[in-house]
Amino acid sequence: MKIGVAGKGGTGKTLIAGTLARFFAKSFKVLAIDNDPSMNLIYSLGMDPALRNEITPIAHMTKLVLERTSIEGAGSVIYKANPYVSDIPDTFKIHGPDNLELLVLGTVEQPSSGCLCAPNVLVRSLLSDLILNRDEVVIVDFEAGIEHISRGTGKSIDVMLIVTGAYQKSLDLTEKLSRLSQELGIKKTFLIGNMIENKQSEEFLHNWAEDNSLEIIGIIPRDPDIIRCEQIGESPYDTIRMTSPALNEIKRIFQNLKRYYIDSE
Ligand SMILES: Nc1ncnc2c1ncn2[C@@H]1O[C@H](COP(=O)(O)OP(=O)(O)OP(=O)(O)O)[C@@H](O)[C@H]1O
Ligand SMILES: [Mg+2]
Repeated sequence: MKIGVAGKGGTGKTLIAGTLARFFAKSFKVLAIDNDPSMNLIYSLGMDPALRNEITPIAHMTKLVLERTSIEGAGSVIYKANPYVSDIPDTFKIHGPDNLELLVLGTVEQPSSGCLCAPNVLVRSLLSDLILNRDEVVIVDFEAGIEHISRGTGKSIDVMLIVTGAYQKSLDLTEKLSRLSQELGIKKTFLIGNMIENKQSEEFLHNWAEDNSLEIIGIIPRDPDIIRCEQIGESPYDTIRMTSPALNEIKRIFQNLKRYYIDSE
């Protein structure tokens, strides 16, 4: 199963992607992909944060990027549309807890959307190769917003999880993301409500989802213990899995995803 986690900035994508990856990694091989410029998935995965200083994201490996993408003798402005990338994940992935591996792709600041500069060509090719050709559960922590979907990097994902708060700005983006996901041909989109404070917000979200014909796979409450964990750089999965209502809901989402996958096979 190939899962993408998308949504507005700060809605909880990294926490959810990382925690889901840990739940899956107890019984499946998992490849977690960090495709966010701030590269902080490592914290939610419970891997040693010191590793951050040793990791060069693939998008920043200038030599590799040019080697794979530029057409020899053609100068530096012409790029291969489909560079060879299948060996990259196994060369650069980092081993994590249980059956988990992490690949840090990073992203490239781009002057305009759809930019075909070399690192973006490589990252996009890598993502589609990972999604099409690997047999692990792949979980991608996307960058915030809609850029990645408009660039087509999310193509071929089986399940897009859109994380949202119960407020209009987040829901506006959710609506855009779900429409783009559909247009890209992504088979299934689920909503996840996160940092939901009370019954009224929960009901508001359910009504909005119903009006927009979208399916909610989980509603995660705001949990101050998560913030405490993140303050000291500990992963909520390792520290508060047994006691946190939010982590308990992420576990339920994991079980729902497993069930969805088995039913859709
Ligand atoms: N259910 C929750 N309860 C309390 N705090 C939460 C919850 N979910 C996420 N947070 C906190 O909210 C902050 C943002 O979460 P996170 O980094 O996962 O969001 P994000 O969507 O990945 O952000 P970005 O768009 O910057 O990548 C973090 O400090 C995280 O600990
Ligand atoms: Mg994030």
